[in-house]
Amino acid sequence: MAKSNSISPSVIKRLPRYYRFLGELQKQGVERISSRELSEKMKLTASQIRQDLNCFGGFGQQGYGYHVESLRSEIGRILGVDRNFETILIGAGNLGKAIAMHINFATRVCRLTGIFDMNPRLTGETVGNIPIRHTDEIADFCREHKPVVAVLCIPKANTQAIAEQLVELGIKAFWNFSHYDLSIDYEGIAVENVHLGDSLLTLTYGASHLIPPQENAE
Ligand code: NAI
Repeated sequence: MAKSNSISPSVIKRLPRYYRFLGELQKQGVERISSRELSEKMKLTASQIRQDLNCFGGFGQQGYGYHVESLRSEIGRILGVDRNFETILIGAGNLGKAIAMHINFATRVCRLTGIFDMNPRLTGETVGNIPIRHTDEIADFCREHKPVVAVLCIPKANTQAIAEQLVELGIKAFWNFSHYDLSIDYEGIAVENVHLGDSLLTLTYGASHLIPPQENAE
């Protein structure tokens, strides 16, 4: 079994997709799958799959394929899913509320325990069953609960100040939806910047090559 830090970044990038597909197979009651079947489902070549999954060793067997549950749990371990990191979310607006529900009720990869917003009118509202607290309470909450992941759903202009405070309070990883690029400022902190708009632009690029201009002209 490979140590996760010996796996190349390009393989790590593909792991969440394997994890998701294997989870779907598990739900369907599939116990094992060949690299050919998995490649058909995932639209990757069978040799790409074999190469990727050989990084962990011991899962693919000639004539047997992959044991779905073991492979998924090993990939989950590498991805840190089993750590169930304690997480807080900052900015309980439209996006923050949707993301909070997604974290606790859809992915369950991290454990969201605190939601904070600077708007006092939101204090005391709940999202799922988690109360929204005022940002004044962040420091005390972090000292008591020691969250390590923070989700930022606040405007770009407010992001740097809150990120600095959170790093001082022990946050080690940011899932950053604000449009401020945090990775510029922090070494030794894991940052995943998410821009849904970039994904939409990739879609419109694809669509613009498929749909002749006159078809969507007004
Ligand atoms: P919203 O206006 O509904 O919510 C923003 C919330 O953040 C408000 O409740 C506000 O009081 C709070 N807030 C602002 N500064 C804060 C601070 N320093 N500490 C705590 N709370 C603070 O806006 P929405 O739609 O939820 O979007 C939030 C941000 O995410 C926006 O800046 C938007 O540009 C960005 N966004 C990013 C996307 C992405 O794909 N990365 C997609 C959609 C929005």
